[in-house]
Amino acid sequence: MKPYAESCDQNRDPILSVIKPLFAECKRILEIGSGTGQHAVYFTEKMPHLIWHTSDRAENHAGIKMWLDEANLLNTRLPLALDVSKDAWPKNQYDGIFSANCVHIMAKSEVQAMFAGCASVLLSGGLLVLYGPFNYGGQYSSESNAQFDLWLKERNSLSGIRDFEWLDSLANQGGMRLQGDYEMPVNNRILCWEKV
Ligand SMILES: C[S@@+](CC[C@H](N)C(=O)[O-])C[C@H]1O[C@@H](n2cnc3c(N)ncnc32)[C@H](O)[C@@H]1O
Repeated sequence: MKPYAESCDQNRDPILSVIKPLFAECKRILEIGSGTGQHAVYFTEKMPHLIWHTSDRAENHAGIKMWLDEANLLNTRLPLALDVSKDAWPKNQYDGIFSANCVHIMAKSEVQAMFAGCASVLLSGGLLVLYGPFNYGGQYSSESNAQFDLWLKERNSLSGIRDFEWLDSLANQGGMRLQGDYEMPVNNRILCWEKV
C-alpha cells in the first residue's frame, strides 16, 4: 500500500511558501530522506522548472516509487539509494538540497556525514534547505519540542533535536554560510545555507 504521512499534507504549503522563492533560480534539487515521496510530488507539481531527485535508504524506495508513478510527473527522478553515512554520494552536482525532518532522526555522526556530503555535491551559490525543529542556545523552543525530543530518544537513543549552532558550524566547515532562518508553524523552522 502507498505510504502516507499526514504531517506532509499539513506542512507542505507553509514549506512551499518559503522554498518557492528560494529555489526560483534553481534547476536541479536533491532531496535527502524523501520518506513517503509526498513532498517530492507536491513540490515538483508546484515548481515545474525543477528537476527533483528523490533519495532515501533503500527500505523507503518502493513507497516513494508508488507516489512518483501515480503522479507521473516529468520532473521527478526515481529515488537514489542514499544513506548519508554509508552510500557513495551522487556524482551529480546540485544547485539545491532539501531535507525535511531528517536531522533529528539521524545519529549525530550521520548528520556530520550529511553536511560533508552536501558540501561535496552543492554547486557554488547552491542552497542547503532543512525543515524541522531545532534548538537554540541549548534550549528547546517549546514544551512540545521538549516532549518530542524525549519521544525521539525513547525510540532511538541516538536521535534528538539538533542545536542550530552545531548545524551552522558543520555548514561553515563545508563552505556554506547561513542565508536565512525562517519561522514555521508549530515550532518548526527552515534553515537555509548558501555554498560560497
Ligand atoms: C521522519 S522521516 C521524514 C521523511 C520526509 N522527509 C518527511 O518530511 O515526511 C526521516 C527520514 O530520514 C531518513 N533517514 C534516516 N537516517 C538516514 C540516513 N542515515 N541517510 C539517509 N536518510 C536517512 C529516513 O529513512 C526517513 O525517510
